[in-house]
Amino acid sequence: MHNKSRISRRDALKMAGVGAAVAAFPFARPAISQGAPLRVGLLLPYSGTFAALGTAITNAMDLYVKQQGGKLAGRTIEWIKVDDESAPSKATELTNKLVEGEKVDVLIGTVHSGVAMAMAKIAREAGIPTLIPNAGANVLTRAQCAKNIFRTSFGNSQPGVAAGEAMIKAGIKTAVTYTWGYAAGEESVDGFKQSFLKGGGKIIKELRLPFPNVEFQAGLAEIASLKPEGVYSFFAGGGALKYMQDYAAAGLKSSIPLWGPGFLTDGVEKAAGAAGEGVKTASHYVESLDNAENKKFRADYNAAFKMFPDVYAVQGWDTTHLLDIGLKAAGGDVKKQDALFKAMREAKFNSPRGPFRLSAAQNPIHNFYLRELKGGQNVFLGVAATDVSDPTTGCSLA
Ligand code: PHB
Repeated sequence: MHNKSRISRRDALKMAGVGAAVAAFPFARPAISQGAPLRVGLLLPYSGTFAALGTAITNAMDLYVKQQGGKLAGRTIEWIKVDDESAPSKATELTNKLVEGEKVDVLIGTVHSGVAMAMAKIAREAGIPTLIPNAGANVLTRAQCAKNIFRTSFGNSQPGVAAGEAMIKAGIKTAVTYTWGYAAGEESVDGFKQSFLKGGGKIIKELRLPFPNVEFQAGLAEIASLKPEGVYSFFAGGGALKYMQDYAAAGLKSSIPLWGPGFLTDGVEKAAGAAGEGVKTASHYVESLDNAENKKFRADYNAAFKMFPDVYAVQGWDTTHLLDIGLKAAGGDVKKQDALFKAMREAKFNSPRGPFRLSAAQNPIHNFYLRELKGGQNVFLGVAATDVSDPTTGCSLA
């Protein structure tokens, strides 16, 4: 990669008709080859319903690097950002733009599972070090796992399993599910069904809406007439906010408890206002976790961005932390893939979410917490499960 930077710089100079200038300034070369910035491609949503999620991830990554003095393992970091718009149809082209076009050294993306699956296909073939800071598509750390792909967020079914168990414990015996009908929603609901059915619960109906549609009324009317004892929903970002508002406006809030993965309330805790009061979720993060990393992270993030971090920011932070660990082991050289990947695979650190390490399929093993939205905050109700690992089914690395 150092070579490529040098060549492209030289080519650029040649194209500009200043080839002779290279010889005239011999010190320019070592500066470029040794101190060349690490080019990190960010494929994230900066527009649409997940825009705030992409921004939170980016903010936290940038904060991490700044706190290391602007360098990771001696390399300055150059972010090359592409807005993926959470549009799976554009994912192949946009990933190629970063991998082939920009020739990034490291790829980080993304939020939407459908976009991530297209991205991962290219990443696997290219063998480029890749970190997934959110998208939970199960297959990425199951049958389609790869030695160069690391996920720092969660697997989609993980919060669903934790929420299903908690709903059973809360005495809920019948449920309707309502979700966006794409990988994240389907797999979240599958996780929920696993534990809810195992606990003797009954699913009355499974409702879906195409992503990123927010016309919730028809489904809410059906919920009102079916009268389940609880509802489990996966929506996130701007869509989740509108869902909570519509759920309350439909008069369901006081009669049918709304549950979901943490994403239902993450990042929209305050905006939800009264409509969000009492929504219960299961997540790998909760604001009030009493550990040193969380306290420092929250204070630093608030100082930098005048707002408190959510789960997406935590995932961005952990992504950069994991990359930093790998880069240090590889002396800052991503070509030393054996050292880079080994250190990342074996990394163990204290995240703001609690203890963090990776499974054999390179997906987090972490705790799950139960939360209730009260007064604009996800309030800690208890630990749902510790050291939760997603099945590594079909993963050849595992
Ligand atoms: C996903 O598409 O995997 C996804 C998107 C947003 C979330 C969680 C998962 O909040």
